[in-house]
Amino acid sequence: MMEPIFRVKVPATSANLGSGFDTMGLALSLYNFYDVLALDEPGAYKVEVYGEGAAELEKADVNLIIKSYEQACSEWGMESPGLTIRCLNAIPFYRGLGSSASAIAGGVMIANALREDPLSVEELLPLMVRMEGHPDNIVPCCLGGMVVSCMNGTQLRYVRLPSPPKEISAVVAVPEVHVSTKDARQALPAQISHEDAVFSLNRAALLAASWAVGKWENLTWAMDDRLHQPFRAKLFPGGEEILEEVKKVRGCLGVAISGSGPSMLALTHGSPREVAEAMCRLFTKNNLRSRFFVLSVDEDGATIEKVAEEEEVVA
Ligand code: HSE
Repeated sequence: MMEPIFRVKVPATSANLGSGFDTMGLALSLYNFYDVLALDEPGAYKVEVYGEGAAELEKADVNLIIKSYEQACSEWGMESPGLTIRCLNAIPFYRGLGSSASAIAGGVMIANALREDPLSVEELLPLMVRMEGHPDNIVPCCLGGMVVSCMNGTQLRYVRLPSPPKEISAVVAVPEVHVSTKDARQALPAQISHEDAVFSLNRAALLAASWAVGKWENLTWAMDDRLHQPFRAKLFPGGEEILEEVKKVRGCLGVAISGSGPSMLALTHGSPREVAEAMCRLFTKNNLRSRFFVLSVDEDGATIEKVAEEEEVVA
């Protein structure tokens, strides 16, 4: 197999955690690898995709890694050499696990690696957030851990919270159905009542505060919300039942739609087996096949490593 020039490693992310809509996100120990195999003439792209999304992603002109790479190069006034990229994807595509954020992070980090004066990840974040439209996947994707972020025009503020102890796992159940973020955002009402806004604000504040001090027993309440989940859980079979039932299962600390869905995220303490089983059983009961992952929190965020010298592999 050809040795890459650069290897990018990007984690999956679960945005929102229920009440932290467009604000909080968690990086998870499930990764895509993007290997840059060769640089080429501008406009010449070859993308090989293995694993998740292989059927959808191979057309280079629609590949978000390439779009983000070109956009970053143009933002910095750089020429953008063509690329040959091999994607080894483990993050399910269009399932609410941050596959778009991982592609944007990958594209921008490749462009950055070709700069004469590469920027730090922190300096890259505002551009990436503008490309993604909201910070809650892309910021934890780049930094790792659980992050609370806020974008104000072109400026970004964020706080990375401490990670939970090892006994806490993230169980992600991924059903065999796609829900696009666009459709999931269109399902939201333009207005909600003052009472529902207060309910959601209350849970979001409790979530951030409880996570910061390790009061994990509060998550069952804190991951509840009325801004998006009640509307989105109706978009795929089993969503409403999983939100309602899984929090009662032994070991479950809290459950939420992962990002804009349709994957579901449960945080567990102790053995995650019963929770994983309950989530998949409820999808099956609703005639939807699913698979699950038992993950931990990714601590490192996206990384790029130079593997070989460009001169050795440029055609
Ligand atoms: N916060 C976003 C949403 C994440 O829920 O629409 C989607 O990737």
